[in-house]
Amino acid sequence: MKIAAFLPKAYTKNVVSGNVTWKSPSNIALIKYWGKKEDQIPQNPSISFTLDACATTTKLSYKKQETTNTDFSFDLFFEGKQKDDFKPKINTFLQRIEQYLPFLKDYHFTIETSNSFPHSSGIASSASGMSALALCLLSLEKELNPAMTDEHFNQKASFLARLGSGSASRSIEGDLIVWGTHEDTVGSSDLFAIKYPYKVHEVFKNYHDTILLVDKGEKQVSSSVGHNLMHNHPFAAERFAQAHENLTKMQSVLADGDLKEFIAIVESEALTLHAMMMTSMPYFILMKPNTLEIINRIWKFRETSGSNVCFTLDAGANVHVLYPENEKDIVYPFIQNELIKFCQNEHHICDRIGFGAKKS
Ligand code: PMV
Repeated sequence: MKIAAFLPKAYTKNVVSGNVTWKSPSNIALIKYWGKKEDQIPQNPSISFTLDACATTTKLSYKKQETTNTDFSFDLFFEGKQKDDFKPKINTFLQRIEQYLPFLKDYHFTIETSNSFPHSSGIASSASGMSALALCLLSLEKELNPAMTDEHFNQKASFLARLGSGSASRSIEGDLIVWGTHEDTVGSSDLFAIKYPYKVHEVFKNYHDTILLVDKGEKQVSSSVGHNLMHNHPFAAERFAQAHENLTKMQSVLADGDLKEFIAIVESEALTLHAMMMTSMPYFILMKPNTLEIINRIWKFRETSGSNVCFTLDAGANVHVLYPENEKDIVYPFIQNELIKFCQNEHHICDRIGFGAKKS
């Protein structure tokens, strides 16, 4: 599919005012996106579990102006309070998507947004936040063009969300999502994410992700700075090739329910992401001592209990602890007894695989 498919045709309806609300989840990558080309085109394909509990709810109210604005006109409220410091990011997003939603300057918008997870939890809200806003804006386009199909709606929502934050493209649907062109994944695209199109073993249904909040501070490295570190990175080409190979390997793992191989790919991907940051120039260590404590305890528990619990990391110190539904009665007590003490104020979030954004 080409970019031109997302340029709208003439609208058939006039919409004066209204509002729409979407709740959009976060997601956790199993094979990581790290490194991008211009226009948020990923350097390698990624696959993620859509989450359920960690989500952003955004209400978009719109009112058509008498004349077209010269600039975007919007007010922004975060958790009930006016939040002008978020406005430049939204403005950049609107600029990037304007050619695909040419009505944006015809309206005044009020954007009211809130997260299900605490603001200072160290959990990135860009995936859920950008996808929720993209969905709201696209709902307005659907009012202007009611003939839009559901398939096009989901693809375009992912396409627009990608322009806000790459990983946001993976937050529209669930429960397993692929983003980025991959020769062994039919329908995959750099432009938008798709539902994983192949067989998935029962064991991956209702998979759990308990997020351990090791460091609730601001991210040490923003993801845009992080992605840029992959330009001229000495190991970049190998890393991008490895992600392609891992996604091919992951297909038989997902089909057969081979949890040992699942663990090997997922943990290696997490550590590779961090290895890329440790070996870039400038270099960063984003794990904290407690991140390593948790990883070592998970490895030890796995050895002694035979459990299939494993970890993954995003670009920070927090740990996502992944385990199948049929192990929750042994893994969650282990998390409570042995891991939660390494979290800031014992803070953790019990999440699980989810099925995508919902309109309310
Ligand atoms: O969407 P961004 O630009 O914030 O990048 C996210 C990158 C990782 O979370 C580290 C990996 C991923 O695939 O989600």
